[in-house]
Amino acid sequence: MKKCLTFPLPILLMCCISFTVVAQKNQLIVNADQGSATINKHIYGHFAEHLGRCIYGGIWVGPDSDIPNEDGYRLDVLTALKNLQIPNLRWPGGCFADEYHWTDGIGDPKDRPTMVNTHWGGVTEDNSFGTHEFLNFCEKIGTEPYITGNVGSGSVDEMSKWIEYINFDGESPMSNLRKKNGQENPWNIKYWGVGNESWGCGGNMTAEYYANEYRRYATYARDYGGNELFKIAGGASDWDFNWTEVLMKNIPLRMMDAISLHYYTITGTWAEKTSATQFDNERYLKTLSQAARMDELITRHSSIMDQYDPEKKVGLIVDEWGTWFEVEPGTNPGFLFQQNTMRDAFVAAITLNIFNKHAERVYMANLAQTVNVLQALILTDDTNMILTPTYHIFDLYRAHQDAQLLSHHLSTEEVSFGEQKLESLQVSTSKSADGTVNISIANIHPDKKIDLEVLLRGIDPKSVTARALTGPSIDAYNTFDNKEAVKVSDFKDFKLNKSQLQISVPAHSVLMVRVK
Ligand code: AHR
Repeated sequence: MKKCLTFPLPILLMCCISFTVVAQKNQLIVNADQGSATINKHIYGHFAEHLGRCIYGGIWVGPDSDIPNEDGYRLDVLTALKNLQIPNLRWPGGCFADEYHWTDGIGDPKDRPTMVNTHWGGVTEDNSFGTHEFLNFCEKIGTEPYITGNVGSGSVDEMSKWIEYINFDGESPMSNLRKKNGQENPWNIKYWGVGNESWGCGGNMTAEYYANEYRRYATYARDYGGNELFKIAGGASDWDFNWTEVLMKNIPLRMMDAISLHYYTITGTWAEKTSATQFDNERYLKTLSQAARMDELITRHSSIMDQYDPEKKVGLIVDEWGTWFEVEPGTNPGFLFQQNTMRDAFVAAITLNIFNKHAERVYMANLAQTVNVLQALILTDDTNMILTPTYHIFDLYRAHQDAQLLSHHLSTEEVSFGEQKLESLQVSTSKSADGTVNISIANIHPDKKIDLEVLLRGIDPKSVTARALTGPSIDAYNTFDNKEAVKVSDFKDFKLNKSQLQISVPAHSVLMVRVK
């Protein structure tokens, strides 16, 4: 100590600091032999509503359009969604579902009546995209349809006949009508939602009233042939735990397969949302913290469900989630068109990690929405199309679909700005059927590369491959002039030594590391 005191002050300080500051070690221990629930591929589902330019212009342009199309579906979007192998697609809404009358959307398009889309911009809906157009689209992109019936302004009879029209294989007025409209075989659609947001745009009902309505609708939602319906009760908005409690208490478990939940990541307020592309570091972290609250939400709704359904027979379906920002300047406020930056990619990564973590209860989830609306996968402008950073997250995370959730332990440093703080690394681990271990790692730090040590337990690793989503900054996004500012490429900055993997995770990037 005496000797130390004889050093000049700066050296003395350095000497003391070296004793007091211990660099945070970023370490991930993956237990490759400790698998638990299977991560349902349906967690990676999507949602397409008759809203703004999602269906019209985004998916459907009609067979006579100058935009290259296959039977009326725009070819670029069709191909991009097919490549993504999305497991399911929810339709026709959203709020639109509770004012949609399916019989208006069948038969010769010239004879279909129009309606006003009162929720979304008050535009005229010409019903040229209806049941056949939706189900044929699902077939083309290889996805499973999830249809939401109209409870708010419809009837039990209307929904019951829709199911008969789509699924009945024998002789009946509805199946004959389907055949007359060109579809000989039934589609055998399994996933049916009974209303949407029945506490709000779907009829402003009380939970008790909706629970009774659900029982009535579900009674007449029939199974035809060998097709057993999977019935989804319209669930709560974010923190409305009472709604979940009342439904679980009043609906017999044998009458429902799942209950839904909606949660959007907004910063600011519903009345005053913030920009999708312009934000500082504190707003950035606030957005990610809001997204991370999905964990608490699922935990709390699930624990209510556990009291009535300890065996977890009823699934939780988060059939609307994603970011909701101010619309792009100059666009129709009712169309909900927003850009999509690396920040959105992190919201997706964090949220999907949370769904994976709750794989025992979360059966399905649907990002809002597929094209040109809210946190979209794809944006279009006339003949032009771009893939958003969010699209690329779903591409990377495909590895987790139907894989077994693995336990892991992560110690990592925090990133903080103002009052906001989160862990820099956000991770999920799973094992595919062929034994490949999948590690998704998001480094949300805006400008710090993180050296991560991964200890692989319970596997004798032979080879590692990795892909990374990167862009120049946290607010980077793709435009119609620069379509690859944010993109996925092969990633090589790692070293495997026996069962230890050293990875240099770039600042603001998302990796999918696959170990065999
Ligand atoms: O996704 C946009 C809207 O958000 C949906 O129509 C509605 O269900 C929710 O409020």
